[in-house]
Amino acid sequence: MASTNGITVRSATRDDLPALTNLVETGFGMRYEERELDHIRELFTVDRALVAVDGDRIVGHTVDREMTFTVPGERTVAASGISAVVVAPTHRRRGILRALYTEQHARTEAEGLPLTAFTASEGTIYGRFGYGTAIVRDFISIDRRRAEFRPTTPDPGGVNIASVEEAAPHIREVYDRWRRLVPGAQQRPEPSWELCFTDPQRYRGGASGLFALVHPDGYALYRRQWQETAEVASVWEFRAVTAEAHIALWRVLLSMDLVTKVEGDISDNDPLPYLLTDPRLVQVTGRRDHLWVRLMDIPAALTARTYQRDLEAVVAVTDPFRAAGGTFALRIRDGLAECEPTTRTPDLELGLDVLGSLYLGQHRARTFAAAHRIQAKDQSILRAFDEAFTTDRDPELGWFF
Ligand SMILES: CC(C)(COP(=O)(O)OP(=O)(O)OC[C@H]1O[C@@H](n2cnc3c(N)ncnc32)[C@H](O)[C@@H]1OP(=O)(O)O)[C@@H](O)C(=O)NCCC(=O)NCCS
Repeated sequence: MASTNGITVRSATRDDLPALTNLVETGFGMRYEERELDHIRELFTVDRALVAVDGDRIVGHTVDREMTFTVPGERTVAASGISAVVVAPTHRRRGILRALYTEQHARTEAEGLPLTAFTASEGTIYGRFGYGTAIVRDFISIDRRRAEFRPTTPDPGGVNIASVEEAAPHIREVYDRWRRLVPGAQQRPEPSWELCFTDPQRYRGGASGLFALVHPDGYALYRRQWQETAEVASVWEFRAVTAEAHIALWRVLLSMDLVTKVEGDISDNDPLPYLLTDPRLVQVTGRRDHLWVRLMDIPAALTARTYQRDLEAVVAVTDPFRAAGGTFALRIRDGLAECEPTTRTPDLELGLDVLGSLYLGQHRARTFAAAHRIQAKDQSILRAFDEAFTTDRDPELGWFF
């Protein structure tokens, strides 16, 4: 229990549930549906929640769950996935988020988890806590009636329609194969599946319930909606273990009679535009960060993933929030890293937020150097560091939390 300015941060109890649920609903401006709330309470259990209290009133909340994330090299790392961070509008900007985070991160340190991660409501808050955007997605919109596949694009077939209920076991199985390959994807616990298949009304934005397309190595969940002048199919979740499944599913999504527009989100190197005769049809309508990452234990996190080239560098990392930073000797041979504290002079200097952004391979070190957020002794060490952190596969978030 920690106390500042009359505000106490403590573990939540079952008795707090009604008040903390109302606080979360108030903060995010929505109401949970009953079955949705049951699954959320199973997913993020009250024994992992912290509340900030002012007298007998709950004015702040945060909760986490231990998650297993895939990292580059088809390896995994344990992380604290943080969710439902809220401070009451009556008590904002008095340091309550900072107090909650201080306690939350002290607990994560005590548990020895190398990483913390979350999805953020705003982009300006979390750099000060050592977080960087690790996954970013493009929102896309395609004029389906004009979309044609190139003559050279294969037509692998193998896609069937199914009800979500009958497709559920297959979807679970494909997801688990997919997440083992993709940096940023997490092992998916049962309550997250229940939430997905419950498909609460508020997830639908006025569109239909979920439709399913299944392929032996993939699936797509999508909704349909009439919007002013367009009949829209919105892809909710798309997972393809193989390139063939990716093509086969997109062929069906872009072949639906009556649909005029197909919307979804893709990663930077998704091959979709290059399957079409007119790549310009895949219009990017927005871009948004999905996952923010903070390295809690730099040697443990950096040695968990693999790298694309050899490197020998002394790296100084500044942690603006806790004591995870320091100067580290990073030695990479044949894709594997060794990392330990050193007193040697650094070759590279960067903030912990930048390291979080590089960690899953989405962002390039050379870009951060151009933004003056990495200082390198010389260009050759920067190039080696930049190339080492690249990956074969774009990171993707497995399930939203
Ligand atoms: C975001 C929220 C949790 C912040 O809580 P808070 O108690 O007001 O935050 P604090 O006073 O502890 O602020 C901590 C730091 O973050 C900064 N900060 C907080 N909210 C910010 C915002 N929306 N934009 C920019 N900076 C912000 C503060 O200036 C402060 O900086 P400093 O400590 O370096 O001086 C709260 O406004 C909220 O509940 N918002 C609605 C729900 C939401 O967006 N939750 C976050 C989900 S990821």
